Amino acid sequence: MNDFTPKKIDYKQYVVDSQLRYFKPHATKIEKSFAEEISYSLIQKSKFINPKFFYDKKGSDLFESICLLPEYYPTRTEISILKKLKHDLLPYLDENIHLVELGSGASVKTRLILDIFTKLQPKTEYFPIDISEILTESSEQLLKDYDTLHITGIIDTYQGALEFLKSYDDKKNLILFLGSSFGNFTPDDGKLFLEKIFSTMKSGDLFLIGLDLVKDKNILESAYDDSKGITAKFNLNVLSRINDELDADFNIDNFSHYSIYNEHDQRIEMNLKSLVSQSVIIGKSNLSLNLEKDELIHTEYSHKYNVSQIKKILNDVGFEIKNIWLDDKKYFSLTLLTKN
Ligand code: AVJ
Repeated sequence: MNDFTPKKIDYKQYVVDSQLRYFKPHATKIEKSFAEEISYSLIQKSKFINPKFFYDKKGSDLFESICLLPEYYPTRTEISILKKLKHDLLPYLDENIHLVELGSGASVKTRLILDIFTKLQPKTEYFPIDISEILTESSEQLLKDYDTLHITGIIDTYQGALEFLKSYDDKKNLILFLGSSFGNFTPDDGKLFLEKIFSTMKSGDLFLIGLDLVKDKNILESAYDDSKGITAKFNLNVLSRINDELDADFNIDNFSHYSIYNEHDQRIEMNLKSLVSQSVIIGKSNLSLNLEKDELIHTEYSHKYNVSQIKKILNDVGFEIKNIWLDDKKYFSLTLLTKN
């Protein structure tokens, strides 16, 4: 699939120093504002909030805390796989390959890959891609620890940034998409997303994707409803964010975290449950909402896969699977793909 017209967007370059710079599109893209997206999604018959809105400062901090919870196995399991990956990954790398990362870039996980790159390469070029400017902070942190590292952050959508990289140079890229963030997509949206990635990859580029695996229902449900209530706070925080940024009056005490594993669709479904019949005003959107007692606002899907499904999803898009790594318990997977 290659049905999008490569837009000629001008990027403005911000040079911080010889090892750090950013690119940001010149033209402000026609993207809906937070207020517009929220008012749209909350006037639907089935109300929802896009999970991308979880990650304000407070939400990002809460997510970091989730990653450390004993119940939340994905982060530490993926890290354990990455730690064993070194020898298996080396044959695919060379002196020139760039590291590209979709999403945040100062984590332990990025560092484990950077350890491999910087040992192999005299100079390592790393391109973190994020829509938020958060990557500026994290980049400076990385440069303190890797002296042969050169960072070019791209503050744009994944697709926009990958198109930019395609015409950037002829070097190969290893694109990282870790943490099972892909699990947020519905199957249809996930397919579209992968097709976009595939179409922006050059022949020979590599793609490493982390995906969470189907497992015992109790393990899954505890991972998304922990005993300390951090996941509940993370979920409820999106309402506080709407209060703060959109001048709304959600009473957080009138909602509860409601998360279940849907075995048929192989996904955690996270919701906010209205505990009473209530109305809420969203000032900035000029909106008054009515919620019934027990009504749900859907906030997140987190899909779980088995290995044969992973192979099928990725093969259908056209990727060639180079390798799939699992941990001993078969809780999590990392798949290395290429485009021929
Ligand atoms: C960041 C989307 C991978 O789905 O496990 C964690 C988010 N939500 N606990 C996940 C999340 C509740 C997480 N992802």
